Amino acid sequence: MALFRVTTSRLQDAQKQIIPQISVVLRQMSNSSTDLKAVLASKIPKEQEKVKKFRKQHGNTKVGEVTVDMMYGGMRGIKGLICETSVLDPDEGIRFRGLSIPECQKQLPKVEGGSEPLPEGLFWLLVTGDVPTDAQVKALSKEWAERAELPPHVVSLLNNLPNKVHPMSQFAAAVTVLNSESKFVKAYSSGVHKTKYWEYTYEDSMDLIAKLPVIAATIYRNTYKDGSGIGAIDTSKDWSHNFTTMLGFDNADFIELMRLYLTIHSDHEGGNVSAHTTHLVGSALSDPYLSFAAGMNGLAGPLHGLANQEVLVWLEKLRESVGEKYTEEQLKEFIWKTLKSGQVVPGYGHAVLRKTDPRYTCQREFALKHLPNDPLFKASLSSNF
Ligand SMILES: *[C@@H]1O[C@H](CO)[C@@H](O)[C@H](O)[C@H]1NC(C)=O
Ligand SMILES: *[C@@H]1O[C@H](CO)[C@@H](O)[C@H](O)[C@H]1NC(C)=O
Ligand SMILES: *[C@@H]1O[C@H](CO)[C@@H](O)[C@H](O)[C@H]1NC(C)=O
Repeated sequence: MALFRVTTSRLQDAQKQIIPQISVVLRQMSNSSTDLKAVLASKIPKEQEKVKKFRKQHGNTKVGEVTVDMMYGGMRGIKGLICETSVLDPDEGIRFRGLSIPECQKQLPKVEGGSEPLPEGLFWLLVTGDVPTDAQVKALSKEWAERAELPPHVVSLLNNLPNKVHPMSQFAAAVTVLNSESKFVKAYSSGVHKTKYWEYTYEDSMDLIAKLPVIAATIYRNTYKDGSGIGAIDTSKDWSHNFTTMLGFDNADFIELMRLYLTIHSDHEGGNVSAHTTHLVGSALSDPYLSFAAGMNGLAGPLHGLANQEVLVWLEKLRESVGEKYTEEQLKEFIWKTLKSGQVVPGYGHAVLRKTDPRYTCQREFALKHLPNDPLFKASLSSNF
């Protein structure tokens, strides 16, 4: 859930023409190897060649104008970044490497008997452009589970932080100090050639993604539970399954919800505050841990990721004020009270979208299927004008 104010990265027209071509070409070369790094190693040189050719052809093409308002508006509306992994269409919402959310739900691998896609599959799709096979997704689950263990200094840092430190601050702190393990830093200081940067960035990114659920679960358990109970990672379970287990939940629907949730939030063009910050800091060759932690500090703001929390807080306040049985009139009154006091009603969506965000739609469908009578869900439905 997020309110977005700044969109800087929309080379939309150019992308619309180019991305489908790129995806078509990539799909033809779809590779059955389960070794993601090897697959990338075979794709990256071709991809670099293609970009080089494209720049040669279009390098001087103008993509927009910059006005004074845009500059004062924090770069609002400026087309200024390339994002190959996804495109945000104002009518349709997000497409990941050309696939819409319903298409991803249909085409990406699921666990046996499951109905929601695995985030591992979306990750494979994002980085390679190919819809992965079951075997590729299984291999990725296993690889992340194997890389998941936290070094002791990260665990003791988290265990020593007081509850009053916001979970996002704990998260960014843990990720920052994880950079003691950075393979990129080691390679850089030993003078590795710049054409090999991607290999070490890849290693760090894979380690980081693998460790994120363990960090998040440790924070959750320390902050909201008694801090015990994070077991050893089971390498036969997928990323979301172990995450929910570590959080302390074993409800099968919740595991499926996490799979869906993590899948649909894994990419949303490159121009939001956190994604842009991560790239910006990374452009200084700060390692992936430092870059990601910087992005997470942006995500912690109320107009970005914290909007999630704001929505829940607002719905709780609504419930406190009007109870569980309320009339439309009472609801309107409460919303006006919020607006008149100069606050925003936090909501789901993206400033660019002209239609309902498909990330909302698929979660709504999930809720209608699995928890239609949940009071919080019902309140969110009726306040969604
Ligand atoms: C598939 O990936 C392997 C590396 O695992 C690579 O050697 C091979 O060239 C790739 N095949 C295609 C068609 O790209
Ligand atoms: C991962 O999931 C499996 C199966 O639910 C569980 O046995 C194992 O303890 C989990 N690992 C963690 C770290 O929770
Ligand atoms: C910001 O963009 C990144 C990268 O596209 C995406 O993974 C993330 O979900 C977006 N953040 C929010 C709050 O939507």
